[in-house]
Amino acid sequence: MNHRTTEDPASPAESLDPLEMVMRYHQETKHHFSRYARALGYMDWANQPDPFRRYEGSPLIALPLLTPDDPPLYEDLYRSGAIASAPVTVRTLSRFFEYSLAISAWKQAGEVRWALRTNPSSGNLHPTEGYLLIDTVPGLSPFPGLYHYTAREHALELRAELTRESFISLMQEFPPQAFLAGFTSVNWRETWKYGERAFRYCQHDVGHAIGSARIAAQTLGWRMMLLNGLADDAVAALLGVDRPEDFEGAEREHPDCLAVVWPADQGAGLAAGKTISLPLSLVPDAVHELTRHIWHGKANRLSRDDPVQWEILDQVEVTSWKSSTERRVVELNHDSPTQEVLINPSADAPNLYPGQPRAGQVIRQRRSALAFDGKTSISVGSFFTMLARVMPRVDRDLCRRPMPWDVLPWEPAIHLALFVHRVDGLAPGLYMLARDPAKVDSLRRAMHQQFAWTSPSGCPEDLPLFLLEEGDARQLAAQVSCHQEIAGDSAFSLGMIAEFESSLRRYGPWFYRRLFWESGVIGQVLYLEAEATGVRATGIGCFFDDPVHQVFGFNDAMFQSLYHFTTGGHVEDPRLTTLPPYGLDH
Ligand SMILES: Cc1cc2nc3c(=O)[nH]c(=O)nc-3n(C[C@H](O)[C@H](O)[C@H](O)COP(=O)(O)O)c2cc1C
Repeated sequence: MNHRTTEDPASPAESLDPLEMVMRYHQETKHHFSRYARALGYMDWANQPDPFRRYEGSPLIALPLLTPDDPPLYEDLYRSGAIASAPVTVRTLSRFFEYSLAISAWKQAGEVRWALRTNPSSGNLHPTEGYLLIDTVPGLSPFPGLYHYTAREHALELRAELTRESFISLMQEFPPQAFLAGFTSVNWRETWKYGERAFRYCQHDVGHAIGSARIAAQTLGWRMMLLNGLADDAVAALLGVDRPEDFEGAEREHPDCLAVVWPADQGAGLAAGKTISLPLSLVPDAVHELTRHIWHGKANRLSRDDPVQWEILDQVEVTSWKSSTERRVVELNHDSPTQEVLINPSADAPNLYPGQPRAGQVIRQRRSALAFDGKTSISVGSFFTMLARVMPRVDRDLCRRPMPWDVLPWEPAIHLALFVHRVDGLAPGLYMLARDPAKVDSLRRAMHQQFAWTSPSGCPEDLPLFLLEEGDARQLAAQVSCHQEIAGDSAFSLGMIAEFESSLRRYGPWFYRRLFWESGVIGQVLYLEAEATGVRATGIGCFFDDPVHQVFGFNDAMFQSLYHFTTGGHVEDPRLTTLPPYGLDH
């Protein structure tokens, strides 16, 4: 394993059983009523990391700033085949990054100004960095290259020039026009504020980035799939974050994942309804070959002082590292616009759907609520629709999971434990959504025996939502969410319950990170659903782990809550001014 960062001291983690170590990390970084997970205990403002990474000396190619005239309706994102595939051009790539990682607004309070992005981030610290590995694109570059996305400039920095042959060899098994999108994390950005719990937050943020990229791809009629079989060494090598010479004196990036993205109608000449085989990894020789190229740029330093050391963070990085590559292949149905859509393209006929928001509008306006009004309720219909959107059930006609769940090539392992406060037509109380209906029995066995497990009236038959216990859960929800009122003043809040120990034993300790990624994608879907419904949401990383488990009756590591979330009518902070994302003179 060549994974060692400049801020990592030699650690004894190799001598520990990786599975035990990962479970110990999770246990030790729980917040308790009596004690929060270990962190510095104060804000070291002078050492705050820069949220914008640059590779100094690398050529910067500006992406065109596009007007918000984007056609697809938000609802079309969820109508299979509704969005015709756009070609891969510098403009569509600009849109892809705008909708996934770009700055979406600047906020100002007094003299202080800070950027917010289309993807949310714990503490707005933005540890996630985005990369692109792509063939020649007119207006971008005359040769294939590896690029780093710079959100402040909405531009791509050329990190490595690749030869045509090596790129073709790397992508030989994918549809035409396919490219790779990659994510890494500057873990230090979260560690700076959150200490030992930071690794969890970085993984949540990767999940949000995967979700926002998958949805951005969908607005362009593109598909996306994580190359989940790749070893982390390969991800690091392909993204150039294993090159110590480029990170001298700079904070390192942890490799997270690579995904293949391709126009949905590019199925190697196959007609609609036929399948294509997609490998979940890359040919090892091609990976090796690709890393021997001309590199540009040195990573900038983000903090004044060196990162603070936390031994347990070094250990969990090592033990959750994916060290092997599996050459698994998935069979995918080939997409092309459905007959219905070709006859009736909703995107070009907005009058047929008056009042429905555009996907771009919803994506750009997404914000975390800072406070909820304690009054607004949502209709039971909207509530059921929101929950239906996080259901990853394989669509029988399409033979695959619906967008965005088709990006995660594993069995869903996260369920929702809900605190319902203000949903018209639904009794307030505790509810459970089993995202995999086959898991209802094991959830039921693991939870309080007195729970009712009744289907709420009017609940769609195919939505495995159950009332557990009626009652006013507002105070309880806020209490277990680190006393944050946003969890009780909303219409509903929830905990994302992972099939924890069984997943780690089944796949290996590296799957720990995937559980957070799946949670982050759920969060991303719910953020946008809230905006489209006319309310707002906030991700909640700060919660008291075991008190949450006690509320629902989970008493061992089989199920663990990994991420919380809240949705309702928000209250604006009048002290904040909103400024446009680009074109400001800073
Ligand atoms: C993983 C994660 C955890 C978060 N935890 C909290 C939280 O505990 N409390 C809170 O008020 N906001 C929380 N947030 C919201 C962030 O503070 C917010 O995303 C960030 O300030 C950027 O603002 P934006 O979402 O409006 O772009 C969380 C967000 C994420 C993605």
